[in-house]
Amino acid sequence: MKERIVITDVGPRDGLQNQPKILSIEQRVELISAIAAAGVPQIEVGSFVSPRAVPAMAGTDRVFAALDANATYKTPSIALIPNLKGYELARDAGAKAVTMVLYASDGMAQKNAAMSMTDAEDITMKILRLAKQDGIEVIATIAVAFSCPFDGPSDPLLVQSIASKFIDAGADQLVLADTIGSSDPQQVRVLTEALVESHGPSQLGCHFHDTRAMGLANVYAAVEAGIRRFDSSIAGLGGCPFAPGATGNVATDDVAMMLQQMGFETGIDLGRLMEASDLAETLTGTAPGGRSKAWLQGHLAKQVG
Ligand code: COA
Ligand code: ZN
Repeated sequence: MKERIVITDVGPRDGLQNQPKILSIEQRVELISAIAAAGVPQIEVGSFVSPRAVPAMAGTDRVFAALDANATYKTPSIALIPNLKGYELARDAGAKAVTMVLYASDGMAQKNAAMSMTDAEDITMKILRLAKQDGIEVIATIAVAFSCPFDGPSDPLLVQSIASKFIDAGADQLVLADTIGSSDPQQVRVLTEALVESHGPSQLGCHFHDTRAMGLANVYAAVEAGIRRFDSSIAGLGGCPFAPGATGNVATDDVAMMLQQMGFETGIDLGRLMEASDLAETLTGTAPGGRSKAWLQGHLAKQVG
């Protein structure tokens, strides 16, 4: 039996929030459906944030409604939220899982959500209590877990203590986000090993951006440390409008290929994934595409032909 690694495609949220072109609700649903058709086990389908702050994510309630109405769409869908209002909107839209953002720096907390790190922690605790009553899963993501574009390097001990606090409080998953793609595999290994040792791997995940071409190396380092959940983005879409310098997430195209070649089970059909990746490029006009894509497409074509 192959060991399983769970990939969450965050392209429809992390990717589309930062594109020059704003997609229609129908286009967003088309992209999500293509990613789901490739067998990606979880998708972050949008966010409930101020539409003035992030115009591309307006109408995420309509995305949820369209997915609900599609009988063939069965993929667990996640909504990112920055605050309590976001939680209420996500719940009312029928979300069964939310990603609430925590911070390893005050600079990022202020820029992203106009609150302090400790405010974000207090609100997350409240959301955890509400979500238990509402039967909603909570993924707590620590933004700038390695370095902040405003406050510099993050303190690994602080990150560990925030992570422990929220795992102990009942968060279903705890994700370390390298929001600006500043980490390196050694840093990733040290932090993830410490967390896996304290908590075991089942609830832990990592979210890497490929700003400096270290995304895949960071995934590998985390896999070696025992992490079995990763966020990645179809065709490498991504970036945070509030974190200067952040580019796309590590591409699902590349992560899925690497993990499968290493012998892990991801549930993903690489051929169908390439179709979703092509669609992301067509719809946005700017998605970089995974580094492996040209090779993969040629290889898969030869297998079919
Ligand atoms: N969803 C939709 N609207 C929201 C909201 C949410 N989660 N939270 C607040 N708002 C609305 C308020 O109702 C208010 O609307 P109004 O002006 O029509 O009355 C407006 O946004 C401002 O509210 P306020 O509480 O003063 O927020 P703010 O201006 O300080 O902005 C956030 C704070 C969190 C709402 C905003 O910065 C935001 O949405 N950030 C998103 C960041 C993001 O998505 N980052 C990328 C992913 S990590
Ligand atoms: Zn991100």
